[in-house]
Amino acid sequence: MNAGNVRPVTGCRVCGASDWQDVVSFGEVPLANAFLEPAASYDDEPSYPLGVISCRSCRLMSVTHVVDPEVMYRTYSYVTSDSETITRHMEFVAATCRERAGLAAGDLVVELGSNTGQQLAAFARHGCRVIGVDPARNLAAVANEQGIRTLPEYFTETTAGAVHRSHGPARLILGRHVFAHIDDLAGVLAGVRALLHPEGVFAVEVPYAVDLLEKYAFDTIYHEHLSYFLVRTLDTLFTRHGLSLFDVERLPVHGGSLLVLVGRPEARRPVTDAVGELMAAEERAELGTDAAYREFARGVRAVREELPALVRSLLAEGKRIAGYGASAKGTTILNICGLGPDEVAYCTDTTSLKQDKVLPGTHIPVRSPDHARNDPPDVYLMLAWNYADEILRKEADFLRAGGRFILPFPKPAVVSADTVR
Ligand code: TYD
Ligand code: ZN
Repeated sequence: MNAGNVRPVTGCRVCGASDWQDVVSFGEVPLANAFLEPAASYDDEPSYPLGVISCRSCRLMSVTHVVDPEVMYRTYSYVTSDSETITRHMEFVAATCRERAGLAAGDLVVELGSNTGQQLAAFARHGCRVIGVDPARNLAAVANEQGIRTLPEYFTETTAGAVHRSHGPARLILGRHVFAHIDDLAGVLAGVRALLHPEGVFAVEVPYAVDLLEKYAFDTIYHEHLSYFLVRTLDTLFTRHGLSLFDVERLPVHGGSLLVLVGRPEARRPVTDAVGELMAAEERAELGTDAAYREFARGVRAVREELPALVRSLLAEGKRIAGYGASAKGTTILNICGLGPDEVAYCTDTTSLKQDKVLPGTHIPVRSPDHARNDPPDVYLMLAWNYADEILRKEADFLRAGGRFILPFPKPAVVSADTVR
């Protein structure tokens, strides 16, 4: 069912231009995190157009349509994972930001999209005052119960001004994997300017468009992810809004991300070599030209053909297949590749909020890891491939017993005990 609450993108949210290159289009797809209770019929399940366009002026990649955030975020089932990978990463982010922002005990750290507060807890442990801002009322309540003070709001100039009045300026403002979800970047950056200490740092972590382009990892394209950024695009954005990007680091987390550090221009922080080096690499890869995005579209088409073909050939050999991780990426790839419960028996996931629900669109059931251990498939389709190393280690017994995994990107491939490092 095509739902309301959605509008097509017209002007570029970074540079205002409206000369778009069409990159890929996936038709109508339900929201990636809209898990459903099992039901006899799903006729009224909403779906929304999904595709990507690239701005020929600043090379922002954007989804074609923006769904009303009230629909996506007020009650949100994505809970920050407590996987080893993420726990380690959060410690790294806390250490890097403490060092780069020169944080001392008592300094204020504000995080937008703070989810259940795990990242802020890493700053609180070092004596910082912390405040989270997250519109998901269910998650803000969890964070508050755990002692991480969280406002159940969007981060805007108004919210930021209120925090400034009650707590003073923030030495660090953090937005991890939330920046790509924001349509009104001008509003958020006005909030950052209102709240940031003159010497403060705004740290942003976003999926890097280069990783998306190189891996053809089109499962990160879903309605929540409005923007896919290059360093050059972020630089344009911050400059337009009176801020200055001074450092960037490429990180493996979430399939390939950037940690970007931004300050006030008056603070005159030296710009690190990494900024120029990444922008030069983007230039060398000709990411300012249409050809790069046509090549991405070709790779996406190939995975969309090869993955269902591989799954069907394994089924034809009598193998039983289940999904590993009911990630938003997973629900997206299954929908886009047209794989449903006839092909994938269930998806296993550690998130209790998702268990015993069904995936959006495909209605494949989500099962707990206990269920999966008692009823293992022959082959797992790796849907949380951003944690592949951790998962392959954890599932060594399954592999030793002859189990196999399908890794979808950049080209679908099967791994077994013999081929895992
Ligand atoms: P994640 O990659 O965090 O994000 P997204 O939803 O943005 O694609 O999702 C990973 C999912 O995989 C999450 O629902 C938890 C689940 N998971 C497991 O079930 N087992 C595991 O060992 C790990 C690491 C994740
Ligand atoms: Zn643009």
